[in-house]
Amino acid sequence: MNVEEPALQALGLTRTFGEGETKTTAVDNVSLELFRRRMYLLMGPSGSGKSTLLAILSGLLHPNSGKVNCLGKDIWKLSETEREAFRRKYFGFIFQGYNLFPALTARQQLEMVLRWGEGVPYREARRRTDEMLSLLGLGKKGHLRPQQLSGGEKQRVAIGRALVKEPVFCFADEPTSALDWAHGEQVVELLCAAAHEQGSTILVVAHDSRIVPYADQVFHLEDGSLLESQSPAMHALRSES
Ligand SMILES: Nc1ncnc2c1ncn2[C@@H]1O[C@H](COP(=O)(O)OP(=O)(O)OP(=O)(O)O)[C@@H](O)[C@H]1O
Ligand SMILES: [Mg+2]
Repeated sequence: MNVEEPALQALGLTRTFGEGETKTTAVDNVSLELFRRRMYLLMGPSGSGKSTLLAILSGLLHPNSGKVNCLGKDIWKLSETEREAFRRKYFGFIFQGYNLFPALTARQQLEMVLRWGEGVPYREARRRTDEMLSLLGLGKKGHLRPQQLSGGEKQRVAIGRALVKEPVFCFADEPTSALDWAHGEQVVELLCAAAHEQGSTILVVAHDSRIVPYADQVFHLEDGSLLESQSPAMHALRSES
């Protein structure tokens, strides 16, 4: 029998903030498995620990306890430098804020990832960048800097920057929050294509339940704990009852 190994496996992750009276357990003993070629959704009320969990899984925030095994490495056992290199090589991020470089045009934000991050030659970087911008409906906005773009356009540039390198993993924190559903759906379709066509593992934090039917599996966080994870069909049944 050929049993697929998870691409990422989290075991007993816990993260607290503060001390004494003000101590918050943002993530409380969370274990989960993510497989290649799937898009996962992480849902839960505001303050339930979604961004904290995403940051731990993606190597940005140290857990108090627990492990993240990813592509055969325990990422929290790596040195800072090794973890940074690992993240650059395998991970794409879409942050809740957009983290764009103010001085660069939309096109340069994407090209930079390919040219300097991946060593892609100039012409190919330009071609892939233009293709991605046009997929995101930004074909005519490539020459504009962040301050000249609307909130939703900035969000789409941030999405393009994460996806253009075709990352093995993509972690997206509310990637559609500033978009109307027409644009939001386009982005969700792009994330789905990255999973199902390129074989990426995608974890998306989102509130909008219209994304649920696109996900292969939905995780629910409440007060830092994972509720039993569900397939979209089960989610629909649960929402109806
Ligand atoms: N750096 C920090 N210092 C102190 N408390 C923090 C910090 N980061 C997060 N928290 C707390 O941890 C809990 C979870 O926060 P988190 O940002 O993970 O929630 P979330 O589910 O992403 O919420 P939202 O949907 O509003 O983005 C909250 O109670 C928050 O106040
Ligand atoms: Mg959050």
